[in-house]
Amino acid sequence: MNCNYSAAIIGTGSYVPDKIMTNHDLEKMVDTSDEWIKTRTGISERRIADESTATSDLSTKAALLALEDAGISAEEIDLVVVATVTPDMAFPSTACIVQKNIGALNAAAYDLSAGCSGFIYGLASAYGFISNGMYRNVLVIGAETLSKIINWEDRNTCVLFGDGAGATVVSRCDKGEGILSVKIGSNGNHDRLITQPAGGSRIPVDVESINKKLNKIHMEGGEVFKLAVRTMASVSEAALEEADITVDDLKLVIPHQANSRIIQGIFNRLKVSAEKSYINLDKYGNTSAASIPLALDEAAKKGVLKKDDKILLVAFGSGLTWGASTIKWVK
Ligand code: UT7
Repeated sequence: MNCNYSAAIIGTGSYVPDKIMTNHDLEKMVDTSDEWIKTRTGISERRIADESTATSDLSTKAALLALEDAGISAEEIDLVVVATVTPDMAFPSTACIVQKNIGALNAAAYDLSAGCSGFIYGLASAYGFISNGMYRNVLVIGAETLSKIINWEDRNTCVLFGDGAGATVVSRCDKGEGILSVKIGSNGNHDRLITQPAGGSRIPVDVESINKKLNKIHMEGGEVFKLAVRTMASVSEAALEEADITVDDLKLVIPHQANSRIIQGIFNRLKVSAEKSYINLDKYGNTSAASIPLALDEAAKKGVLKKDDKILLVAFGSGLTWGASTIKWVK
């Protein structure tokens, strides 16, 4: 990329609600089994926010930890981006609520809707603003309370998702450090494959739409599965090519945590050893926009990531959207 500066992740933080819902809990709610969920998805349990907790609450906790990790104050943040499909409300943005909560009073703030690819989209935004010199420090958060929009009678979807938040502080750095490449893309022709049909201007939330459960998640899982493997592999290749590195240069790959079989499919296509993957979906399920920053924070805090390691982040989600980024770790 031809820019004046580069941008690096200099701090990470994450937060998940305390309440754990296991596969055995779900066996009591729908016709499913621990064995089916584990073998078809790799998920054992997920976190569920309580009634009074919204996406901004999870985001705020993750953001404060990321700021502490980065060693900068909230006043130094120029932009807050919250990637989410479960904002606190239609407006104001969840990002403005987080801005207030953490005291980032010098920042602009907005939400970003790109489904499970939201964090990579946020990273691309941060990279753009920082590399052209407009901003120095951007807080990129991926956060969801998907439990609030799950149809708990639909076994096709209710076993998959969980709640959580991950935050990163992205800051100006020297060229050749930090984000080496970031690629995002979308194809609205597949807009119906993962959707919450009601709640916007097309289908308002009213008694009829609630009765039809149109205010809940609908997904054509099989179709999504096939497209996810193909697209995440190709966008990964594009990000690697742009950075002029190969899979052999990578220390770690952090894929969107949706399904262990999807991840295996990507790794097979990219010819990367499974040992290079960082996976925590067994504990959290699919947390959509939160999944990558949650896993990234865990990997960083566990010491799995070391300075100068090269990593690949890759995601896929509603839209359809996708994105991948290669990063030289600077911490
Ligand atoms: O974050 C990005 C968006 N989401 C994703 O990436 C999810 C992508 N899709 C998937 O992960 C998988 O397609 C699922 C996990 C959703 C489903 O796995 P699958 O291997 O594609 O299963 P299937 O949909 O083909 O269903 C196989 C069978 C069906 O029964 P019949 O028709 O063969 O009798 C389903 O009704 O499994 C049944 N089934 C279940 N059985 C027990 C579906 N959900 C369940 C369940 N428990 N929870």
